[in-house]
Amino acid sequence: MAAAPRRFGTGGQSLARRDGLAKVTGGARYAADTPLAAGLYGVVVAAGIARGRVAALNVAAALAHPGVVEVLTPQNRPALAQHPDEKRHPFNFRLEALQDDTIRYAGQAIAMVLAESLEAATEGARLLAPRYVSEPPRIGFEGSAPWHPGMVGFFAPPAQEIGNVAKGLADADVVTQTTIETPAQFHNAMEPHAIAAEWIEQEGRARLLLNTPNQGPVMTAALIAGYLGIAAEDVILRTPFIGGGFGSKLMVYGALLLTALAARSQGRPVKTVLTRAQMYGPVGHRAGTRQALKLGVGKDGRLTALSHEVQALTSSFEDFVEPAGRASQHLYAVPNLAMSHTGLRGDIGTPLAMRAPGEASGSAALEVAMDVAADAVGLDPLEFRLRNYAEVDPSTGHPFSSKALRECYAQGAAAFGWAGRPLAARSMRDARGRLLGWGMGTAQYMCTMYRGEARVTLHGEGTALAEVAGVDMGQGAWTILAQTAAEGLAISPDNVVLRSGSSVLPDGAVAGGSGHTATAGTALSQAGKAVVQQLTELALSDPKSPLFGAGNSGVLAVDGRLLRADNPTVGEAYTDIMARAGLAELAGTGVGERDAAHAGAYAMFSHGAVFAEVAIDPDIGQILVTRMVGAFAAGRILNPRMVRSQLEGGMIWGLSFALHEEAVFDPVSGKVLNDDLAGYHIPVHADIPAIETITVEEVDPYVNALGVKGVGEVGITGSVGAIANAIRHATGYTPTKFPIRIEDLA
Ligand code: MOS
Repeated sequence: MAAAPRRFGTGGQSLARRDGLAKVTGGARYAADTPLAAGLYGVVVAAGIARGRVAALNVAAALAHPGVVEVLTPQNRPALAQHPDEKRHPFNFRLEALQDDTIRYAGQAIAMVLAESLEAATEGARLLAPRYVSEPPRIGFEGSAPWHPGMVGFFAPPAQEIGNVAKGLADADVVTQTTIETPAQFHNAMEPHAIAAEWIEQEGRARLLLNTPNQGPVMTAALIAGYLGIAAEDVILRTPFIGGGFGSKLMVYGALLLTALAARSQGRPVKTVLTRAQMYGPVGHRAGTRQALKLGVGKDGRLTALSHEVQALTSSFEDFVEPAGRASQHLYAVPNLAMSHTGLRGDIGTPLAMRAPGEASGSAALEVAMDVAADAVGLDPLEFRLRNYAEVDPSTGHPFSSKALRECYAQGAAAFGWAGRPLAARSMRDARGRLLGWGMGTAQYMCTMYRGEARVTLHGEGTALAEVAGVDMGQGAWTILAQTAAEGLAISPDNVVLRSGSSVLPDGAVAGGSGHTATAGTALSQAGKAVVQQLTELALSDPKSPLFGAGNSGVLAVDGRLLRADNPTVGEAYTDIMARAGLAELAGTGVGERDAAHAGAYAMFSHGAVFAEVAIDPDIGQILVTRMVGAFAAGRILNPRMVRSQLEGGMIWGLSFALHEEAVFDPVSGKVLNDDLAGYHIPVHADIPAIETITVEEVDPYVNALGVKGVGEVGITGSVGAIANAIRHATGYTPTKFPIRIEDLA
């Protein structure tokens, strides 16, 4: 990958990852590395059909194998306090934990083998040799059954119509229709899901210790406790290192419960690691969608109507509906706007949030539709987007809390060299005769914020401990969260130790929806400020302090010292204030949550403009993305290095979506055929061009106290469309599905 120039300019310190050294030296200990003192290994047996029931398992053969200790099946699975089909919380997915012999999708757990070694458990699982009573599975758009058209599923917003789309289309000078299909995609984190479970006696009661990668440790511990019939604080969930999550580690799943149950009934620790293939089903995926867009445009290049109808595949037993239509609700100015979702039920595992859930697929379709419409009125794609620039959220009429998208367009276009792009397709070639195409897309992702809590403790010698049940799944949270605590305390990040990744710590909420820094970071910053406030009160009321009596003019906290605001040469160190007060430590707590008044009054989004160039071999259709530029506005940039990494990662994921990823279901067995990293394509370095990321200045007084917006997911949006539009510009082919393949261009 060629080095690209970097332009990064808005703000904070580019500190390196705190977890970096451990990860690259092998020092990081993942859940699967948990040492198992006198423990058992669990191996899940996954259904080989997608619909039907288990008729027989050769349990006797498995038990006869040396080392096999137990085979859990629906016949002997220990009781749960809550039925796995019960739903008590939006993230409390209906799941499979051997409640009966029904098979709802291929890959569902139908048994678990426990043995003294992984090898014995694996062999025991093989010996079970399940026999099935099988029914034809309902797979894909043709096989799946529509379910309440216009229903409100989990995740998808209710259908919306603003104005009158039929009239808006009738009034248009041109109406364009675009239909796009997106495939099922799987998260494929480098670390497969793993669980190490151990029950311990503590304070006179049984407590469950879980080491398992999880994006919401406090929430998940409470959900698991509900199933097990114990108090939430009796599940201690540790999630120190996470080898990628992307949404698939947000949920409770069958193997997690079964491992906890097995450890309890056996009275021994149990460790279960899913195989790569076993991740294709029970732990979520990005749902396949079929999207139909109709755009009405006037001769002046302004949208008169936009309709975005989404069909999304989901499971037969849970209501998750991929919210792809959301992408059209808040982006372009249009007086008549309609968006709706229909779920289609089939015999697949329940889909789940996957990086930029909804918007990734929705933006892919919307941005292609925008270029089709721009062509229909003879406008440059960027000019067309500028003519339809939304000054207020078209869905709510609310002003944006901040929106530097115009600057993103301008800076991105300048860096890419967009000016002078010929309108017509197939009009650029490189020196090797390859067709060149330039495309763009607008990026947008909401600014999620949860309610999070944190604690900061300042020690007498000037160092601090920052505590939050935060989650670093590779995005750099350990580093950023320590920075926010340090900023609140006004001390160097080098003097802050972060304790994170355990459910016993203050609840920093889930790492999802690109809202973790906003939530947990704000909580830590506020906790640091609460400590500074206490130091201030101590100093102002102490006649021995040089700050005594500075009350009216106030104080400043700078680099571990409090200074008089009216005369910053006068002040004293935190350590001196604490020493005089006889304090060894001083703790403060903070909450990170959105100001309710602002939440109701402003639309809050990260934005960006992505530009892509492709070179296509005219004879064989081989597609190479040769460069990408993304300019993003995401509020304050706390750590430019980390932000660049997130944005680049998002843009690479966009490339992956556009050209590589697709899970292929066998219509006969219902199994994913390419359930490994050999068959499931993701880009390698040779596929990834020089990527330039730019962050534009954006000050947001409303989004949260830190002024930060999410950067984890916005980079995918816009990027898929930019590449698709570049291919369209190079070849004249309008994509009707993703990924775009060589054979589509033949
Ligand atoms: Mo994410 S899909 O919010 O981990």
